[in-house]
Amino acid sequence: MDLKNHPILKAARGEKTEYTPIWIMRQAGRYSERYRKIREKAGSFMDLCKNPELAAEVTLIPIDEIGVDAAILFSDILVPVEKMGINVSFVEGKGPVLEPKVETVEDAQRLKIPEPEKDLPYVLETIQLIKEKLTDRPLIGFSGAPFTLASYILEGGSSKNYIAAKSTMWNDEKLWNTLMTKLTQTVIEYLSAQIKAGVDLVQIFDSWIGVLSRDDYERYVFSYTEKIVNELKKRHPETPIIHFGVNAGHLLEVNNRLNVDVIGLDWKTEIDKALQIIDKSIQGNLDPVMLFASEELIEKQVRKILTSAQKARGHIFNLGHGILPPTDPKKAKFLVDTVHKISRELREQ
Ligand code: CP3
Repeated sequence: MDLKNHPILKAARGEKTEYTPIWIMRQAGRYSERYRKIREKAGSFMDLCKNPELAAEVTLIPIDEIGVDAAILFSDILVPVEKMGINVSFVEGKGPVLEPKVETVEDAQRLKIPEPEKDLPYVLETIQLIKEKLTDRPLIGFSGAPFTLASYILEGGSSKNYIAAKSTMWNDEKLWNTLMTKLTQTVIEYLSAQIKAGVDLVQIFDSWIGVLSRDDYERYVFSYTEKIVNELKKRHPETPIIHFGVNAGHLLEVNNRLNVDVIGLDWKTEIDKALQIIDKSIQGNLDPVMLFASEELIEKQVRKILTSAQKARGHIFNLGHGILPPTDPKKAKFLVDTVHKISRELREQ
């Protein structure tokens, strides 16, 4: 099959599909025993991200194990950040730790804009290895968006209230603009290199924008993401772009102005209401914790989502956020099969 006509790419473009395609955020992760074994062999999580053979192998696990319709490059949104000149490590039970923190304009000015071919060759090599093996399904590339990356850089890691990120945004225009501009440039070059290396579509993870009011989002953040999208569309008009944020229902009107093909919805954002606001294809939005419910309930919820999404321009099924480590892989496979089955049924009606 010509990959361009794969259901995921068709749904992204708003064309009719025989069934609703599905992939799952964090589909190559700790809920899979095969992932955990390879991760152990690799050493640290960052070591795994930098090992093209193993990263490619991990990327392909969920195709084989749960039958998703696309692979997503195994890496992390913080992989390019390390090459800007900030140490990134993952501490068990604590999440990512970034040091030194960026606190002054000079700190931000010192940050480098990585050259993907030179500084991140392992990512591009991983993509090439995956594309050699995966010929019947698309490969999704990804990057964090400037706000989400800036929050890790300013906070030094994960955060609950985003005090450092927001106060910098409000109080220190020069530092904020310098940092956001560098991140914007970094993301453009990084995603562009992934597309040149072979990914078929890209997702921009702006995971934490939901913590911003609409006013703040429009005033301090939106233009940077917009610049990335416009530049990518200019350089790679054929490559669909998905934009995703958590708890971002109040930002839909603003995000609908992005020249993206798909908007990812978290599970608190109601599809019916979202479709009154946006005219893009949608992605989502099953609550990840639903995979701990009975098969009967999962099926019911899948039907509800698929039915609401019939009115969308196109629909790619996904969870509303990443799959959780204690999830039973059998439930993930059940979800994939159920989405395929029910979406075919709904089309026959
Ligand atoms: O989706 C996929 O399967 C592709 C790989 C992928 C990972 N992270 C692998 C990963 C992707 C697309 C990401 C994106 C990412 N990373 C985001 C955006 C998506 C989201 O969740 O909102 C964010 C915020 C990060 C930063 C990050 N990386 C965090 C907060 C953590 C969790 C730390 C923890 O211990 O739970 C990570 C680690 C990480 N990234 C893991 C995986 C499989 C677990 C690492 C391990 O094996 O120990």
